Amino acid sequence: MNNIIYLDTAASALKPESVIKAEMDFLHESYANAGRGICARASNVDNLVANARARVARFINAKPEQVVFTAGTTDGMNRIAHIINDKVCGTGLKNKIVMVSDLDHHSARLPFELLYDSDSCNIVLCPMDAQYNLMCSNMQYADVFVITAMSNVMGIPQDVAGLVAAARKKNPDVITVVDAAQYVVHSEIDVQKWDCDFMCFSAHKIGADTGLGIMYIKNPERWISPDKFGGGMIAKITGSAIEHNVAFQWEPAPAKFEAGTLPVTQIIGLPAAIDYLVANRPDLNLIKYLYDRFVKNPRIRVITPRDSTLLTFYVPDMHILDFGALVGARGVCLRVGNMCASWIHRVLKLDGTARISVGSMNTMGDVVRAADIIESVVK
Ligand SMILES: Cc1ncc(COP(=O)(O)O)c(C=O)c1O
Repeated sequence: MNNIIYLDTAASALKPESVIKAEMDFLHESYANAGRGICARASNVDNLVANARARVARFINAKPEQVVFTAGTTDGMNRIAHIINDKVCGTGLKNKIVMVSDLDHHSARLPFELLYDSDSCNIVLCPMDAQYNLMCSNMQYADVFVITAMSNVMGIPQDVAGLVAAARKKNPDVITVVDAAQYVVHSEIDVQKWDCDFMCFSAHKIGADTGLGIMYIKNPERWISPDKFGGGMIAKITGSAIEHNVAFQWEPAPAKFEAGTLPVTQIIGLPAAIDYLVANRPDLNLIKYLYDRFVKNPRIRVITPRDSTLLTFYVPDMHILDFGALVGARGVCLRVGNMCASWIHRVLKLDGTARISVGSMNTMGDVVRAADIIESVVK
């Protein structure tokens, strides 16, 4: 297994030692639940969770109460669709216009596409230019705007602040939702500059553990009803359906959006992952090297531009799964298929592509070896 060249960070990042150590120390020495106990051990966990939340808040330029722990980007985007589609708040999406784009991952767009059936919202597309970037010009009216800050196929940062501002010009009340699952790996996020209403990313893509994500909410108290109910989010219950009087008070945010036990171990590894990422962003010269080499190879068609954060390509006359299996058998771990981004593949008129993405731990030696193997397989 150690001869594997791991070039699939866009799917999930390898874990720095500091993250593994933070989690192991916690599991060995100080494990307890969060938000449940008052003994010293439980209070210590509460402090660790609060510190992690504060670290995330600094990382994205938010306030701690705007940071909600979720299970990942997919969980966050599904939850946002339900939080927005809230008839109690008067924000139900019936007859509303939801703008999505062909850059979207299935996780970002499907939760809204599926509301089309259940709540009959109208889905419209944000236009893209010839380089597959979302266009701020010709912005149409939308009630909700789902923005993919960086596509996992094209790897180019989008002008999120410009897109949010353009959508607000058309409708000052538009609700903007940003999928930052890939963007967060390569660029600093400033939610105040973006001025978005919601933003999500997954911890596992930045070197922390699986089962954890972040959902930023600009105005958490605006969304009166949370989308999940259970322990830890109720301040007081004063009635019940048995008495024909369902009466309770939520805790203030973020607890209101965090029903049930949190993924405490993963949360405790998260600050170490953020510290490591900020000090060691992936070296994109590795992608440029591959680009310069593969554009000269007549057997390979590169789709992404040279300044992309990843390299997406295909091999004419070779099924992409055959290609993936052949290079995989030789130790190159990359992603092949539709990348859970079917819409951009439909635009590209391709069933699937291959994607190389690098992480903080990859070296030039890795990509040189991988390129040698790939070129030997396609020749
Ligand atoms: C752009 C984008 N959005 C959303 C997701 C979903 O992330 P997760 O599977 O961690 O929920 C991914 C994962 O590949 C992604 O690349």
